[in-house]
Amino acid sequence: MTNTFPDGFIWGTGTSAYQVEGAWNEDGKVPSIWDTAFHTGLRTPDGTSGDRAIDQYHRLDEDLDLLQRLGAGAHRFSVAWPRIVSDATGSVNEAGLDYYERLVDGLLARGIAPALNLYHWDTPQWMEDLGGMMTRDFSEHFGHLAAVVGERLGDRVAQWFTMNEPTHPSLGAYVAGFLPPARREGQAGLASVHNLLLAHGRAILALRSAGVAGDIGTILSMNGASPATSHADDIAAAERAEYFDGRLFLDPMLGRGHLPELLAALGDTVRDGDLDTIAQRMDVLGVNWYSTYSIAAPERAAAHLAELPPRAAMFAGFAPVTAPLGFTIVPAPGLPWGGAHRQLTPGGLRDALDWLTATYPDHPDVVITENGVGYADAPDATGVVNDERRIRYLSWAIQEVADAIAGGARVRGYHAWSSHDNLQYMAGFTQRFGLIHVDPETLVRTPKASFEWYRQVVRSSAVPD
Ligand code: NOJ
Repeated sequence: MTNTFPDGFIWGTGTSAYQVEGAWNEDGKVPSIWDTAFHTGLRTPDGTSGDRAIDQYHRLDEDLDLLQRLGAGAHRFSVAWPRIVSDATGSVNEAGLDYYERLVDGLLARGIAPALNLYHWDTPQWMEDLGGMMTRDFSEHFGHLAAVVGERLGDRVAQWFTMNEPTHPSLGAYVAGFLPPARREGQAGLASVHNLLLAHGRAILALRSAGVAGDIGTILSMNGASPATSHADDIAAAERAEYFDGRLFLDPMLGRGHLPELLAALGDTVRDGDLDTIAQRMDVLGVNWYSTYSIAAPERAAAHLAELPPRAAMFAGFAPVTAPLGFTIVPAPGLPWGGAHRQLTPGGLRDALDWLTATYPDHPDVVITENGVGYADAPDATGVVNDERRIRYLSWAIQEVADAIAGGARVRGYHAWSSHDNLQYMAGFTQRFGLIHVDPETLVRTPKASFEWYRQVVRSSAVPD
């Protein structure tokens, strides 16, 4: 067992626009589908929303200074599409671009390589009003966003990602309907997957035409599946579920076409040339990994699903999508994070990386773009946030990455999720993933024990004993 990493291995952190920025309607930003959802009835358990999030928009320098203190060499963030493109005619909001230029230049000035993600689920409301991801136009407009950002920042960004975990804003929003814009379109909603894939392809084409200097790729979640019980039907369901979220997008992105079960349902949504547009060459593949899904056969899942606390049930929302495919994600003992449906299987992260190498031998080099855990530790009476459990989890996961590399996996970097506590979408601040604690009322930032620990990881490029 080795716990060191190859020369040049990149250590980083991550955030996303809606989860940290706030300033939802400032300097020309127009509403996103998340703004609409929160302003028309969506509530988090603690009443927080992205209206303010952690107000990074107004506290950028303080947050960048904290990142510099952490010492990691890279930081991943997303741009908010509705901060940059104001309407369906493609009007560009220069003030929005200026903000991201400040962010990128601020990172570079502190010796941190920017990793820019174009889309972390915050579709502009104007795009949704045109039909959202149910229309092919989505990909045209997204290509425009990529062109605009690529032209402004193309000379300075080290890594470009087209989107993050596309399963959620497609299947989660247009089939299962548990995420904004919460449309339950049934089978027809599967078109959202195809249109999002087209958007990915068009974004890469636009970035390449803009001549961006950095690597280009995307970010997928890739979770293994473990049977909820030893019942033969659950075991068979887990086999069907294995890395489904990865395969659904990777097969077409890497030129293998749509998964047969998706293709059968897509009908004439797929036009000539689409699959070539989607299969653009990628230089880097971002992998988000948290834990292994616990899987039951759909007909056996009801009892498991009933156990989920309502607010932690985000993934249970996928049942309408996955049941026809022969599996259901169910609660499992393990992480106390939304969450109850997942479990830590020893070897889980390593298995995911090994599966990737075995299934797609020519896959682009990997960066772990997200990994972390949502414990809600708060400052104690002396102001210290002793998040030992996060340190234990991260040590375990980073060790798995080291083992996978020793076994031949091509992993070039690791970004802890997240640098700061942030708005965990529907869970608000009840689930906190940060190395830095943020009080959503006072907005005071307090580095946690894990911040100091990760500093050592970064400095030594090894898991401390
Ligand atoms: C996935 C998402 O990309 C991110 O937005 C979220 O905060 C984390 N995982 C934790 O659930």
